[in-house]
Amino acid sequence: MRVFVTGIEGYIGVLLVPLLMERGHDVTGLDTGYYRDGWLYSDRKELPQFPKLINADLRCITASDLIGFDAVIHLAELSNDPLGQNSPATTFKINHRGSVDLAAKAKQVDVRRFVYTSSCSVYGLGAAEPLDETGSVNPQTAYAQCKVLVERDVGAMADAGFSPVFLRNATAYGASPRMRFDIVLNNLAGLAWTVKQIAMTSDGTPWRPLVHVQDICTAITCALEAPAAAVHNQIFNVGHNADNYRVREIAEIVADTFPGCQLSFGRSSPDNRSYRVSFDKIHRQLPGFRCAWDARKGAEQLRQVFERIAMTKDTFAFRAFTRLTQLEYLIKTNQIDAEFFWNF
Ligand SMILES: NC(=O)c1ccc[n+]([C@@H]2O[C@H](COP(=O)([O-])OP(=O)(O)OC[C@H]3O[C@@H](n4cnc5c(N)ncnc54)[C@H](O)[C@@H]3O)[C@@H](O)[C@H]2O)c1
Repeated sequence: MRVFVTGIEGYIGVLLVPLLMERGHDVTGLDTGYYRDGWLYSDRKELPQFPKLINADLRCITASDLIGFDAVIHLAELSNDPLGQNSPATTFKINHRGSVDLAAKAKQVDVRRFVYTSSCSVYGLGAAEPLDETGSVNPQTAYAQCKVLVERDVGAMADAGFSPVFLRNATAYGASPRMRFDIVLNNLAGLAWTVKQIAMTSDGTPWRPLVHVQDICTAITCALEAPAAAVHNQIFNVGHNADNYRVREIAEIVADTFPGCQLSFGRSSPDNRSYRVSFDKIHRQLPGFRCAWDARKGAEQLRQVFERIAMTKDTFAFRAFTRLTQLEYLIKTNQIDAEFFWNF
């Protein structure tokens, strides 16, 4: 298939592209390069070729840029909750409007499939029972509200010629050259390696489903390649039932994996997001999907990467590996404006 992938240079995108190319797809990517300064390690020497890259903002794409593509995979958004809370207006412009406009333009030029990376954070504050795709959503942040709005607005565009599919990913973890240390397991692993100490201020009781970044890539590929009848205008939670963890358990798994790491917990939890999620549907209905990873295996993968590159504290703390810090730096140094367009 001819596939247009946005966010090609992000944490998920850099792993997804080689997978798509290995599977014979012809990939064109879009990215504005906010995190281009950060590259943790190189594993891509064997890549037969680099994909075509359009170095531009999502909001500047026209329908004619999308002519001739069979599918769009859309990853390019401001990618976490704190980011959205700091700049809610810009978050709505990129994550909600930018995504809906992209889907409308794709539909206009007969792109047949639109794979959207939504998030389990739409569940926000969950009930005691695991939530499935039919349950109500309860977004707690601008980021999660945008995910809900995109699902609603792009879902309304579905028709016989246009099949959107919505992947509500659990929180990702695992190694990627375009690393993120602002997501829970990766962050704890970085602390365990660099200072051998995880001192949590919270009690770690909230539930947080996790999924390995490679398993997200598998889900995206399956959603791209499935017959339309299996995925047309469907929402899938992406993860595995066994990978609903309490934050406390995630910390324990990481501390076990990094010898000599001290672990302690506090009493409070400023972050009230907590949800357990059912992943039955994706295993039942999305052809070819299964998770190959769990948190323990992912923590071990990170330990091996950190050992291989002799990761230092400075590397762990480098701004480009924490999305919010990098964008704050780009604003402070006048490289991007208040709406996150490049100034030069
Ligand atoms: N990583 C997770 O835990 C997770 C979980 C659920 C959903 N998701 C979703 O998956 C998608 C990708 O996540 P990620 O972790 O790879 O994020 P990321 O921040 O690493 O990558 C996003 C990429 O999109 C680009 N981008 C952002 N805004 C853009 C714009 N306006 N124009 C062009 N490019 C732009 C960035 O430069 C970056 O390379 C996001 O939509 C995110 O919300 C991620």
